[in-house]
Amino acid sequence: MEEKKYKIAVFPGDGIGPEIIREALKVIRVISESSGVTFEIEKGLVGGGACDQHGEPLPEKSLSMALGSDAVLLGAVGGPKWESLPHHLKPERALLGLRKRLGLFANLRPVVAFKELLDASPLKSNVINDIDIMIIRELTGDAYFGQPRGIIMEKGLRIGINTIIYSEEEIRRIVRVAFEAAIKRRKSLVSVDKANVLESSQLWRDVATEVGHDFPDVELRHMYVDNCAMQLIWRPSQFDVIVTGNMFGDILSDEASMLTGSIGMLPSASLGQKTAMYEPIHGSAPDIAGRNIANPLATILSVAMMLRYSFGMLREAKIIEDAIRAVLKDGFRTGDIYREGTLLVGTEEMGNEIVKKLKALLKPV
Ligand code: IPM
Ligand code: MG
Repeated sequence: MEEKKYKIAVFPGDGIGPEIIREALKVIRVISESSGVTFEIEKGLVGGGACDQHGEPLPEKSLSMALGSDAVLLGAVGGPKWESLPHHLKPERALLGLRKRLGLFANLRPVVAFKELLDASPLKSNVINDIDIMIIRELTGDAYFGQPRGIIMEKGLRIGINTIIYSEEEIRRIVRVAFEAAIKRRKSLVSVDKANVLESSQLWRDVATEVGHDFPDVELRHMYVDNCAMQLIWRPSQFDVIVTGNMFGDILSDEASMLTGSIGMLPSASLGQKTAMYEPIHGSAPDIAGRNIANPLATILSVAMMLRYSFGMLREAKIIEDAIRAVLKDGFRTGDIYREGTLLVGTEEMGNEIVKKLKALLKPV
């Protein structure tokens, strides 16, 4: 049998990035040993660290490393140290640059409530029971990339400008991804916009309806973004797949993360033409960096998504998720999901527990 080999570009980034990536790499190693698949890991610099060393957040070397890889795994970027840098040098530009240059237009953010963590959410457990939502966020358009943009002077006063813009092709391709996801799930899709105010949203709604004609088995509902923000807290279990633009998706996915108890639990996959990128949705959390207290589970869940979407290793992806569930069931918790009566562990111990469980689950029966 031909030996399988994949190249993974790993960008730990800033803040807690290196700590959580370290744990994710342990998981990748175990998967490699048991499956016989070789993962060639190449580490690179992006974000604030890259600014410090190379004077730019996304050095050419890192970008070509990403372009030449089979998948990208990213920790997190940013921190107070770099906040006052001009816009084009901010660490966040690295993320946006990677998304744009890799053509990663489809951002998948699954929001799954683990039964074991029901009491970690600020919401009542009867409201969040059985939450299984897939948020599909458009990732390369909208106000994030629209032109014109900038801060200009007019009559001696500053004006800040950004442009919300979507072409029908951009809308069609992301809505199609969402319908295709919905058809494999509970066949319900909510498309989120602000069509009562914005023309770009009116077009979004029209195109989503048109694409829906090709998917008669999926129920399509349109929802205004403000209403969706409210419904996510009020009756979250009504949602199966949500599709929305870049800006609304950014906001709604942070909101939805709290349904699971902690933003430290949410992974993401950004898909496009070839190389996909995987990252936790939380940020670099500079306030807790370097203290071995960050939750590595979102990053480890991102590895599971990588195995599933980039390498077709469905069994191993599921085993990683099962291992996480089992470790939570055993009571291990990092600080963000800790409750009285559970076992408080650090980043590294959490990683080790997952590895232990993984090894047991991966043993051939
Ligand atoms: C996210 C983040 C990024 C975004 C930031 C860090 C640029 O919030 O991935 O959700 O706004 O897309
Ligand atoms: Mg965000």
